[in-house]
Amino acid sequence: MDHFLYRDGILHAENVPLTRIAAQVGTPVYVYSAATLTRHFNLFRQALDWTDHLVCFAVKANSNLAVLKLMGDLGAGMDVVSGGEYLRAKAAGVPGDRIVFSGVGKTVQEMRLAIEGGIRQFNIESEPEMRALSTVASAMGAEVPVAIRVNPDVDAKTHEKIATGKSDNKFGIPISKARQVYAEAAALPGLKVVGVDVHIGSQLTDLDPYRAAYAKVADLTRALRADGHDITRLDLGGGLGIPYRRDNNAPPLPIEYGQVVRDTVGDLGCEIEIEPGRNIVGNAGILLSQVIYLKQGEGRDFLIVDAAMNDLLRPAMYGAHHDIVSVCEPDLGAAMHKVDVVGPICESGDTFQKAVELPPLRADDLIAFRSAGAYGAVMSSEYNSRPLVPEVLVSGDQFAVIRARPSFEEMLARDTIPEWL
Ligand code: LLP
Repeated sequence: MDHFLYRDGILHAENVPLTRIAAQVGTPVYVYSAATLTRHFNLFRQALDWTDHLVCFAVKANSNLAVLKLMGDLGAGMDVVSGGEYLRAKAAGVPGDRIVFSGVGKTVQEMRLAIEGGIRQFNIESEPEMRALSTVASAMGAEVPVAIRVNPDVDAKTHEKIATGKSDNKFGIPISKARQVYAEAAALPGLKVVGVDVHIGSQLTDLDPYRAAYAKVADLTRALRADGHDITRLDLGGGLGIPYRRDNNAPPLPIEYGQVVRDTVGDLGCEIEIEPGRNIVGNAGILLSQVIYLKQGEGRDFLIVDAAMNDLLRPAMYGAHHDIVSVCEPDLGAAMHKVDVVGPICESGDTFQKAVELPPLRADDLIAFRSAGAYGAVMSSEYNSRPLVPEVLVSGDQFAVIRARPSFEEMLARDTIPEWL
């Protein structure tokens, strides 16, 4: 459930009509609902309330400082994958002991930054990384908590670009090698082995892959304990999918996911960490856009809007679907018009969706791309020299610009022309 609903014929974010945001901030613009974010975060917390746990929001899904602050104030931890994300989490007021650091390519500088600022745990993804972290930590006189990410070789049954738990993916160490790697970790200075980490992919719509992966993690945990390791934490990753279409095929709910966690690893007495991103923020955001032209093509009509693939990359990159709706509620039984919704960028890939049924729209009318709160703004760029898309946060009757649209001057000022040119 989200808080984007029609009221008095206009799509609202909570109590704010999207027409008001468009008038004040301009379009395209991302709009997030604080109530939806809060609700989704609490659903995960409730799903794990049978045990000690920390819900670490996957910062990569939406890294706006205001979003992170809201999450952090609710008690969320953060899952970060770069020095930049680490600094964002800190800037949002999240203490280091609630930040876990994931990712296959952490640099020595990033390790140092996180050790200096405080870190709950590093999720190690390879032996070279483990040795580098040991060197960095010992040189700093620190002993850092680590979990090792294992690759359970489980098919997450999701889009191939976002599946991460098969042996041919770059992530984690093969689970078959785990005991050997843990033995080395335990012997290395500067590292304190505390847990096991796993993440099998994103936009999972079936719980079976989780069940399979977590059962393997449970077996491994028992074996590691038998080997003498003090495994007290399990980081089970993120990935629970969201409904991108309003039909009856909704993915499982957090509460059902929590039950799988309990069934598979619940008896181990470990503190549970999870790293949901999309499920918390995906349906808490929309991308608001305005129609520029309606163009009649041969056999099809194009709705050319002011949002483009640089603002919302997912359709071009993954063939992803985002429901597109008119901000002005269509009359019941109104004749619909089939259009291809496209952006202004000079690539055919800049097509959001073909043959969308929309009420007849004209220049200046507003539309919204739903389910755009996750991997939307964070994946935006300035391609075609379109200034970075701004973001707005709504809470009840109020809204605030949480990232302003850069001016053309600001955009140009970042480049420099060398004096010898
Ligand atoms: N933890 C780790 C280690 C991850 O790699 C990811 C996502 C997450 C947690 C959060 O997964 P979530 O709960 O959001 O599914 N850009 C793609 C998604 C990439 C996901 C990468 N890793 C998209 O737009 O679909």
